[in-house]
Amino acid sequence: MSDQLKVFVTREIPAAGLDKVTSGSDAEVWREPLPPSREVLLQKVQGCHGLLTLLTEKVDAELFDAAGPQLKVVSNFAVGYNNIDIEEATRRGIKVGNTPNVLTDATADMAMALMLAAGRRIVEGQDYIRDKKWKTWEPLGHIGADLWERTVGIVGMGRIGSAFARRCHGGWNMRVLYHNTSPNEQVEKELGAQLVDMDTLLAESDFVSVHANMNPDTVGMFNAEAFKKMKSTAVFVNTSRGPLVDQKALYDALKNGEIFAAGLDVTDPEPIPLDDPLLTLSNCVIAPHIASGTLSSRNAMAEIAADNLLQGIAGQPLRCWVNQGS
Ligand code: DGY
Repeated sequence: MSDQLKVFVTREIPAAGLDKVTSGSDAEVWREPLPPSREVLLQKVQGCHGLLTLLTEKVDAELFDAAGPQLKVVSNFAVGYNNIDIEEATRRGIKVGNTPNVLTDATADMAMALMLAAGRRIVEGQDYIRDKKWKTWEPLGHIGADLWERTVGIVGMGRIGSAFARRCHGGWNMRVLYHNTSPNEQVEKELGAQLVDMDTLLAESDFVSVHANMNPDTVGMFNAEAFKKMKSTAVFVNTSRGPLVDQKALYDALKNGEIFAAGLDVTDPEPIPLDDPLLTLSNCVIAPHIASGTLSSRNAMAEIAADNLLQGIAGQPLRCWVNQGS
């Protein structure tokens, strides 16, 4: 019998982290491609001192009760932690860890990729070829959005928003508008970014990219009214969380030409149901939540998640500690 502390890892993560976890604890790893069902999860967490979770697991009072009072840490393999009831964890003295910084550039790159793919109609173009519709070079066909010296509106100017802003300004000399809960002096100084109210951002931006956290104030913020305020030529990009967008309203805006195109890495729910009307639109590019999906980001996320987990079960401060001091 191992005298190491018991942990449950809800999915196979890169070996850079998983090896540390399995050698530093008595770990059970869920190696199926799909997440454990809720019922199985509640069973597996019983008696655990630590949990390594993904965004797909709802970590709440019910799960803490199922685990038992010895649970010390929940280490989320993500920078976002909207799947975790942080208040409840804190009330119970359970530490919560996340994986910030190491996916900032990968996520900003994904926002750029979606902005270009949607703005320049790349996926639509590929479908056109595959559907055997490409007969000749078309002077009037496949016209997309210009980027050079256009205006980008960034909603949420934290680490990822700032990295995206640098790319837009450095790459295409874009004017940067942003909306945030507080001013970001760094991007103002470095890029001349301007803090504006939402209405100004929506009305003046050629590209609108969302990098805000998901919370009660941001859920549903991109609704019919918001899309109506945008330019009919605007490209909308979301790499944050699906629920920030009212998907039916986005569909209507894209379908009716209220905006030009959209690029989404996140949807609500995930996976997006195959009968979701957004999937019928040629001006909507959708990726399966892959913004952090580069080798170095995922390896670094795994290392941080492992460190958080092992530090938590040892009763030490976490390397990246969400509810520190709360
Ligand atoms: C995160 O880390 O929050 C991403 O959404 C998944 O990598």
